[in-house]
Amino acid sequence: MSTRYAAKFASFGSFAPAKILNNFDLEKIVDTTDEWIRSRTGMFERHITTAEEAASDLAYQAASRCIESSAVRYNEIELIICATISGDHAFPSTACILHKRFGFKNIPAFDVSAGCAGFIYALDIAKTFIESGAYSNILVVGVEVLTKITNWNDRNTCVLFGDGAGATVLSRANPRDISRIIDSVICADGSQGDILFQAAGGSRKPASHATVDANEHTVYMEGNKIYKNAIRSMYASSDEVLKRNNMSVEDVDWVIPHQANLRIIEGLADKMKVPMSKVIVNIEKYGNTSSATIPLAMDEALRMRKIRRGDIILLTSFGAGLTWGSILARY
Ligand code: UT7
Repeated sequence: MSTRYAAKFASFGSFAPAKILNNFDLEKIVDTTDEWIRSRTGMFERHITTAEEAASDLAYQAASRCIESSAVRYNEIELIICATISGDHAFPSTACILHKRFGFKNIPAFDVSAGCAGFIYALDIAKTFIESGAYSNILVVGVEVLTKITNWNDRNTCVLFGDGAGATVLSRANPRDISRIIDSVICADGSQGDILFQAAGGSRKPASHATVDANEHTVYMEGNKIYKNAIRSMYASSDEVLKRNNMSVEDVDWVIPHQANLRIIEGLADKMKVPMSKVIVNIEKYGNTSSATIPLAMDEALRMRKIRRGDIILLTSFGAGLTWGSILARY
């Protein structure tokens, strides 16, 4: 596809709430052990929101840090896209709440719902807008507060999730820039939507005393089935995005995968034949923050000066929907 312009990552920022819940804290809540959680998931602690904190609070902090660290000024942001499935409200969008908090005027804002692949979907959309010439600077946020829709009696899910936010400004690259998003792939398989979903609270089953009593407003997940799809789908989209740009894994400096389970990450690295030394992992500190895992990991890796300007990076994720996708870029 011929495009008029190229998009590039201008900067990243992230934020995690102060409160931390570790595996030993979880041992006091459900029938689990630090050993089980570490060996099955690679997680040790996760940040969780207080009763007063909501998605837009985390998103605002991450987005502020992101914009402050870029050369883009607040009044140059032309669109906000927020990837989330745990926004402040069903409506208005969390992107619109951010719009208000930043005091933006006359720019559009909307949310993207694609589960843990939400940030990849939002980036794909933002990239396409920039390549079309419609916008020059887009704020893309991934934020999730899944601990507010977690069943704290279900050990299969409650040990997995943490809260957090990450943001990037996607800008039009000028012709001399080495940085640019090379390509992206997004995909879905709606036939498997029922293995990871929130049963009640929508129009299919509106919230009622009965749905709350039955915990149907919390995350339902068949972890094993998700696990089987995860490696296959991330591998497929990564392979596609590399092949159609005549690139191979040897060309990639860093893989930044969704942080859902260390065993999934290692399985993907093994299948891709990428050494783990090239894979960014921070799951032990944050757990699964859904659409926030990739921008959180990117921001940390940049601040640690692991990822540098000019490096080839591959971002890949999968999640509820089912959804998945990969982004190939020169940072
Ligand atoms: O971000 C996208 C969405 N989510 C995911 O990507 C999650 C993908 N799935 C996974 O990461 C893994 O499937 C889990 C971490 C969720 C589960 O790991 P698993 O190795 O697939 O375990 P399992 O579900 O097969 O359960 C094995 C055993 C079961 O006991 P029995 O039936 O063998 O006696 C579970 O009841 O582990 C038990 N178990 C636990 N034990 C201690 C499940 N959760 C726990 C727990 N502590 N927290």
